Amino acid sequence: MTDFTRTKSLFTIPDGLIYLDGNSLGPLPVGAAERVGRMLQEEWGKHLIKGWNVAGWMTQPRRIGDRIARLIGAADGTVVVGDTLSIKVYQALASALELNPSRRVILSDSGNFPSDLYIASGLLQSLDRGYELKVVDPEDVDAAIDETIAVLMLTEVDYRTGRLHDMRALTRKAHIAGVLTVWDLAHSAGAIPVDLEYAKADFAVGCTYKYLNAGPGAPAFIYVAPEHADTARPALSGWMGHQAPFAFDLDYRAGAGIERMRVGTPPIIAMAALDAALDVWDGVSMADVRDESIALSDLFIRDVEQNCPELILASPRDGTQRGSQVSFRHPEGYAIMQALIARNVIGDFRAPDMMRFGFTPLYIGEAEVRAAVDVIADVLAHRRWDNAEYRKKALVT
Ligand SMILES: Cc1ncc(COP(=O)(O)O)c(C=O)c1O
Repeated sequence: MTDFTRTKSLFTIPDGLIYLDGNSLGPLPVGAAERVGRMLQEEWGKHLIKGWNVAGWMTQPRRIGDRIARLIGAADGTVVVGDTLSIKVYQALASALELNPSRRVILSDSGNFPSDLYIASGLLQSLDRGYELKVVDPEDVDAAIDETIAVLMLTEVDYRTGRLHDMRALTRKAHIAGVLTVWDLAHSAGAIPVDLEYAKADFAVGCTYKYLNAGPGAPAFIYVAPEHADTARPALSGWMGHQAPFAFDLDYRAGAGIERMRVGTPPIIAMAALDAALDVWDGVSMADVRDESIALSDLFIRDVEQNCPELILASPRDGTQRGSQVSFRHPEGYAIMQALIARNVIGDFRAPDMMRFGFTPLYIGEAEVRAAVDVIADVLAHRRWDNAEYRKKALVT
């Protein structure tokens, strides 16, 4: 059994704060602050350029990739860390398209994160080979998979509603139709059990700043199934993905396997935070995380619906069909969320009317859920959100 009291003690969360936004940015792990300090002083400060060799900076993208692989059902040597998620989406999609050269349609859904769709559109424009991006409603994806599709590109958990796609079933259907798959695990990794090998996903990408708690702007990861790893062209052919970066050849030769998905110099300070954040997962069972996340989310839904009838549930009611977040709709959702934040209950808002609350058992328990509902009920019952201050839109919502 996972000891969630222990995991909670591994995070720095300000007293009195109920943090229900780990689906957007995880809180600071105690060990990350210490590790980054040590990295700066001991590694960068003392080793300087020697750090690339003596502190193992050069091999971190693969070593840390292996640690993430264990959390997403992937084998060692199939995941590498670096760049941002948007960049990894570009690489995965471009590589997948090249592996299916006779087809011209990319299938995605309207529940995908806009950046993934923007990246796809931009890539298709650059390729200028008559590609089409077909975007259907999430419930229509299954029926839209056919022999015209080159790549199915989906985010497993919908960032707005938390609705979960069946990765294994959709991948199987895609493969039968000769379609390759690219899965975005931004809201899955560290939130729900993921088994890429079992699902037979071709490519997967994800970020580490949400449920993996590695900090704002932390590096992303990419997975390539072993059968594609030595044939996929990485699209962004940077020197760190070259077979021999320090040979300084004028011609690009892709590195072996997943190494080729590296692009440029890895962000070593951010890698230190990520490495320490992953320590939190030692001794944690993802099945326990899932059970507890569903229990907390169900409790939240039940209590909110009992106490705040004006909020409309936007997430699937069945916990097995959700990721690790719950969303409620209200036309004044933005102002309500600002009023909650002012009262130390932190969630976030996604236009046009969605309030999101993330449930992360590593540091959230029943007491926090109940206390949060009390605050939400009070804010609604007394219209405490009805204040011009709370309607002022910030840059980040
Ligand atoms: C599902 C999904 N995909 C892609 C992105 C974009 O990631 P990044 O800004 O790290 O490139 C996000 C950001 O939140 C996301 O939630």
